[in-house]
Amino acid sequence: MTPWLISIPLAYLLGSIPFGYLLVRIFRHEDIRTTGSGNIGATNVARSGAKGLGVLTLLLDALKGFFAVLLAQHIAEGHGFPQAYDIAVAAGLAAVLGHCFPVWLRFRGGKGVATALGVFFALVPLTTVFYLLGVFLIIVFLTRYVSLASVIAAALFPVFALPHAPAHTPILVAGYILIPLIVILKHSQNIRRLLSGKEHRFGSRKVAA
Ligand code: G3P
Repeated sequence: MTPWLISIPLAYLLGSIPFGYLLVRIFRHEDIRTTGSGNIGATNVARSGAKGLGVLTLLLDALKGFFAVLLAQHIAEGHGFPQAYDIAVAAGLAAVLGHCFPVWLRFRGGKGVATALGVFFALVPLTTVFYLLGVFLIIVFLTRYVSLASVIAAALFPVFALPHAPAHTPILVAGYILIPLIVILKHSQNIRRLLSGKEHRFGSRKVAA
């Protein structure tokens, strides 16, 4: 039981570090939640005019997801726990929940894309790099809608990753479905804007209200 008690709260806390919010606060003395889409993620940080901070946010948000999974796996294996991969998947879910609902920002966090990317990379690196990132980049290149690319890549995660999963335990299957589901649900406003043709395209200045 101990690996669960350590890994899951640790993963939530790691995921809850709001890097986009902190970087913009520290380097630009602004609240990212009051500009653009109001999201604390990399896309909105870049959109606010701070491209370098946007890249840094992407990296740090992805790294926290990645390390939450690796730490959980390390702790489980250190305890000789047989279901290390289950704990790793649950830690990935906790990290994404931490990012989307951080206690520090009254549970109003980001949309989980970069953090899920880091989690997916730790769980299934080749599938993430060759399939998910591929799909994501092609959609962004063709449409310049980061949100659309995020939603489609997230929806495709179980399709691409489940066949390559090391086992099909209930926890693993639930995690592989819940992580993308959270990302998609957090994009409900983006989806509404996409459907009404009002979504912001990456690189253009106008942002829908
Ligand atoms: O990273 C989240 C992205 O998919 C959409 O961000 O700021 O356009 O809502 P935003």
